[in-house]
Amino acid sequence: MEKEDLLHIDENIRQWLSTLDDVIPQLIAEMKTTTKQNRFDLVTNVDKTIQYHFEQFLKQHYPQHQLFAEEKNNDEVKPREGHVWIMDPIDGTTNLVKQQTDYCIILGYFVDGVPTLSYIYDYPKQTLHKAIKGHGAYTNGKLIPQPESQPLKDLIISFNSQVMNNDTINALYDAAFSYRFIGSCGLDSVRVIHGQFGAHINTNPKPWDIAAQFLLAEELGLKMTTLSNEELDFATSGPFIISNKGCHEEILKILNSGNGYEIF
Ligand code: IPD
Ligand code: CA
Ligand code: CA
Repeated sequence: MEKEDLLHIDENIRQWLSTLDDVIPQLIAEMKTTTKQNRFDLVTNVDKTIQYHFEQFLKQHYPQHQLFAEEKNNDEVKPREGHVWIMDPIDGTTNLVKQQTDYCIILGYFVDGVPTLSYIYDYPKQTLHKAIKGHGAYTNGKLIPQPESQPLKDLIISFNSQVMNNDTINALYDAAFSYRFIGSCGLDSVRVIHGQFGAHINTNPKPWDIAAQFLLAEELGLKMTTLSNEELDFATSGPFIISNKGCHEEILKILNSGNGYEIF
């Protein structure tokens, strides 16, 4: 795609994201929470309305583009063909409901399967992290420097300790400098992108949880793979790590030693 076309889409997306600043406060004021698969699996009017607004935006400006998003049925979507937007309208819904902070909007734009534009909008912090293929990664318009390669012993790592076996958790605690977990796959990944965390691991992400991270990782020289060190499929996702180059191998070794990381 021509650079000019890409920059034009980027401008339109940023403009659309800025419209959320007028919409979200009212949605939060009228927040209605319901559950999906179980009592911990939350969805709100905020998630649904943001996704609806983006769907309308695409219909108006880019009617040929497909939307592959969490709060809709994606049976008709062909994620590897043509122009596809993968969206998590609110990543970190539990944080939105229980803490009113640490949630974000994730958007990844794929052209014939190639990650081309990426956005993680941290609305509570009014901070937009984005990447443009071949043109770097930015936070609020400022170029993000490539994180320096560091060993695991010097790095903070992040993962959901509720869904990993205790032996693996303890081995990771022992090997890393320390542990933190935000509870939003997008924002935990942003910490890695900025070099604040060494790695974020999610053992069961969906395509919308990791859609923006592919290009951000590529532009910043980070590792993003399956937990078996294979290429990740953006359309199906699966257990994933986004990581500083200096600790990727060591973390995967720990995750795959003994009985592995899964809880039996
Ligand atoms: C969840 C968050 C959480 C991660 C889960 C995701 P949601 O997304 O990113 O940190 O551990 O795997 O499903 O449900 O808030 O969009
Ligand atoms: Ca999510
Ligand atoms: Ca979500």
